[in-house]
Formats: sequence, C-alpha cells, structure tokens
Amino acid sequence: MLVGEAKVMHDTLLKRVGNTPLLPLEKIFKDFGKTVYAKAEMLNPGGSVKDRLAKSMIEAAEANGSLPPGGTVVEVTSGNTGIAVAWVCAIKGYRALLVMSDKNSEEKQNMMKLYGAELVLTPHTVMPDDPRSNYKTAERLAETTPDSTYLDQYNNPANIDCHYQTTGPEIWEQTEGNIDCAIIGAGTGGTISGVARFLKERNRDIKIIAVDPEGSIFAPYFKKGELITPEHYEVEGIGGDKLVGAMDFDVVDEFVTIGDREAFLNTRELARVEGLFCGGSSGAAIAACRRVLKSHPEIKCPVTILADSGNRYLSKLYSDKWMIEKGYLNRP
Ligand SMILES: Cc1ncc(COP(=O)(O)O)c(C=O)c1O
Repeated sequence: MLVGEAKVMHDTLLKRVGNTPLLPLEKIFKDFGKTVYAKAEMLNPGGSVKDRLAKSMIEAAEANGSLPPGGTVVEVTSGNTGIAVAWVCAIKGYRALLVMSDKNSEEKQNMMKLYGAELVLTPHTVMPDDPRSNYKTAERLAETTPDSTYLDQYNNPANIDCHYQTTGPEIWEQTEGNIDCAIIGAGTGGTISGVARFLKERNRDIKIIAVDPEGSIFAPYFKKGELITPEHYEVEGIGGDKLVGAMDFDVVDEFVTIGDREAFLNTRELARVEGLFCGGSSGAAIAACRRVLKSHPEIKCPVTILADSGNRYLSKLYSDKWMIEKGYLNRP
C-alpha cells in the first residue's frame, strides 16, 4: 500500500517537468507597442529549465545501462543543472556528485546540498584545460568513482534532444505556429540549439537570436570565427569559456551581447513590473529582446525563455548591498 502511494508521488513530480506556461509580457515592452511571450521555465518543479535536461540525461543513462541502481551521477554545473540533477537523484535514489565553479551563488550551493548532493567547488580563475577546472575535476571524479556515470551536459546529445522533443514543440503549439523570433540565452547551448532545430524544421524563416554575456567566447566566435580568452562576468548560467558539442551555431541567426549591469537591472525590472521573480540570465534575455525589437521592427511574435527562479540570487542581484558594491546600483 505504502509503496503504491510513494510511486504515485514519485511519478507525479517527475511528470510535472515541462509544459510550462507561455506568459505575455506587455507592460515591460509597452514602449515598443509589442508583446514578448516568455516561457516560464522557473515554474518547473526543480525551479529551472534544467529539470528537463536532468530528467532526460538520467533516464537516458538508466536506459543505456551506464547508471546502475543506487549508482552515482557526476556532473559539472553552473548551478541549475546541479540543482536539477540533485533533485532527480533524490527522487530516484542515486548519489549526486557535483562540480561547480566558486563564482556561482551560495544559494545554488545550498540548494544542491539540501537535496543530499555532494558538491566540489573549483576556482573560477582557471582556464578550462587546467587540471583544477570544473570540467577536469568532474572527469577525474567520474574515473575514480565506482558505479558512476558522468552526464557531461556540455556534450551529451540528450541536452539538445530534450529541447527538440519538448521545449520547441511546446513553444510552437503555444504560439499556434505564429512565432517569428526566439531570443534565448546560451550556456551549454542545449536550449537554444534544440528549440531552434525544431522551430526551423517547422518554418525556416523563424529568426533565432542567442543571448550572450560580455566576456563569453560565443558571440565573438560566431561573429568573427575567433576564439578569444574569456573574461569574468557575473551573470550566471549563460556564456561559455570553451566551444562545446551542445552549442549548434548553425541554427543561430544572430548573437546579442549583454553586460552584467544591464542584465541585472532588467531582471529587477521584470520582478517590479511584471511580477516575475527570475535569475540574471532572464534579465539578459529581456535586455536582448529590447535590442531585437528595436533592430527588427518587423517581428510580430517574439518568444523568450525565463530560465530560472530569482530565489537562487537573493544574496547577489536582489541584494542592494551587493549591487552597490559591484557598481551596478548607485548608492542611495
Ligand atoms: C540561469 C540559466 N539561464 C540560461 C541557461 C542556458 O541554458 P543552456 O545551458 O541550455 O544553454 C542556463 C544554463 O545553465 C542557466 O543556468
């Protein structure tokens, strides 16, 4: 009896991933006389777009036999994937061993731990091929931990595929095929690549615009084919410091680069004006939408993605003290 009840709970929670609402943002774009439609991914049960990915990568590992019952899941994360992996592992009874750069918020660290995950922090100052980097640390842990599987979201085909299978079709259906532009942040690149592949198959005229932070290597690579040395930026979850398999540049039409200050001020405005409590990458996406609406007045049905909830950034972009110290807000 108890087992039956527990199973019902378990299935229900994981089945709640995806099918997020598409919210019309009217007030924040009123100067443009346009509505931007925002996919509210923070309403996934684990609080971010990464629930889709964690569920899909872990189920793929179960299906191909690389994750035995009670085994260990190793993953490298900028926070949201780690939280989502820790959450799925808590439900399914796996050990989660997560590696994250120390640049990411303490709230994210605590959220992973509250689901029972073990967390290794790596210095954000080192390059990706340094043995101390998050990528190399995760590889080492996976090699030395018995019964473990390394999900490797940056190169796992399930990353693009889960958005091709779910997020893309949901957006297409929710806009009744009217979408003409998608403006989406790129971190691993999985969301934008999967959504774009699906949408372009339906209508190849749909414009796909990637949002990238200042300091990331993606936009300069896309625009000039050059690999720059990455620079530090504060916005979490988007931008890259190396090229990865989940970022398909071929399905992207344009890149828009957004600075930290602009991203954070737009995130706060989103909460104040629309009542949407999101992370900094959502503010970067809103800032990018403003630029795109200005440069492409022909766009009628733009869609963006609000990747995660603001509760992961209370000590950062939602703290006046932190914002003033960083120079993003003027002292009152
Ligand atoms: C807050 C946030 N926004 C956007 C993204 C980008 O998603 P993707 O990795 O699919 O490019 C991420 C990914 O970690 C994220 O954490």
